[in-house]
Amino acid sequence: MRVLVLNGPNLGRLGKRQPEIYGRTTYAQLVALCVEWGRDLGLEVEVRQTNHEGEMVDWLNAAADEHTPVVLNAAAWTHYSYAIYDACAQLEAPLVEVHLSDPEARPEEWRHFSLVRPHAVEVVKGLGVEGYREALGIIAR
Ligand code: DQA
Repeated sequence: MRVLVLNGPNLGRLGKRQPEIYGRTTYAQLVALCVEWGRDLGLEVEVRQTNHEGEMVDWLNAAADEHTPVVLNAAAWTHYSYAIYDACAQLEAPLVEVHLSDPEARPEEWRHFSLVRPHAVEVVKGLGVEGYREALGIIAR
């Protein structure tokens, strides 16, 4: 089974970006780990990251056309993008929402609301990069 792991804005700087919140694993390491974890689960995993909302919408639209399961960390778009909400609404294959941190436990109130959640079969948060392994496991089951 093919699975897309899609990452939104600023996640390309993982490992360098606020490591006290997001950890020291780099984005390149995350990509390698997801591919390896996927292989162990019998999944063909492709990992992407973009800082451009339209590109993410295009990827989600293609996933909808192709009935591809998605693991999505929409990063800040999670909290305010109706375009991402509408794109996620079209997915028929499972969507798992993932966050490295636990946005609901963070002080900024705007992080406490997710537009991805209504369309996700599960939300994995606060587990750092391990959360991606968990999310892939949910897709595999
Ligand atoms: C994040 C949490 C979001 O609130 C934030 O905007 C991010 C990363 C996470 O993985 O913890 O960019 O999605």
